[in-house]
Amino acid sequence: MSGGNTAAGQELPRHIAIIMDGNGRWAKKRGLPRSVGHKAGAETLRRIQAYCHKIGIRYLTGYAFSTENWKRSQEEVNAIMALFRHYLLEAIESLERDHVRLHFFGDMGPISPELLELVHRTDDISAHLPEDYFHANVCLNYGGRDEIVRAARKFAADCAAGRRRPEDLDEGLFANLLDTAGTPDPDLFIRPGGELRLSNFLLWQSAYAEFYFTDTLWPDFTTEEIDRAIDAYRNRERRFGGAK
Ligand code: FPP
Repeated sequence: MSGGNTAAGQELPRHIAIIMDGNGRWAKKRGLPRSVGHKAGAETLRRIQAYCHKIGIRYLTGYAFSTENWKRSQEEVNAIMALFRHYLLEAIESLERDHVRLHFFGDMGPISPELLELVHRTDDISAHLPEDYFHANVCLNYGGRDEIVRAARKFAADCAAGRRRPEDLDEGLFANLLDTAGTPDPDLFIRPGGELRLSNFLLWQSAYAEFYFTDTLWPDFTTEEIDRAIDAYRNRERRFGGAK
């Protein structure tokens, strides 16, 4: 496994970001409703989170529901929201025991009051847990462009109120206005499901991420597959725009 003892050059990635794609196709191949694929996808997330924690990854961010996913059928949206509810209730019971801090990224405006209350409870529990615990992040009603626009609005409001001047803005200040404030940028960005695109995920934060694409559908994604992604990452040379 990749838990720190391969001969590759890079350290383990500190932060892994994953687009959990392919749940629908996984279900269709089995003649099952899409919601069953999402349920299997949520199980995979639990497994991969636990494994990343075990091997020493510090941050894992999963893209679970985008600002565009509301266009899906009401039945599918309801099924995903029910999975969130279940996931949150489980988290409330287990975060402290498992040494995990859970955080949600995205615009919580359109989220139902019941779900929002659970999100606030997990935020509250997480805020009181030690910073060196594993950081699990889930993107809910998240879009990279939407996040950047919301951050720009906050800065504009601060300027209008006289708390900031336009010339105060730099990359560090702007990053602190994003949902991910305080979270290091992802080192490794994984997209299962065969599509070769970013789909509006962590646009600002993935400026220097290393990408790993695989045809494996998310519910079939295994710990061996994440080891392969980490090994590929560790064999890359990261230059961050500098010369060799
Ligand atoms: C993309 O696959 C997946 C989603 C839009 C939903 C992801 C949701 C989960 C993994 C479960 C809920 C998560 C939590 C944390 C409870 P797709 O449906 O677009 O797949 P397809 O491309 O095969 O149609």
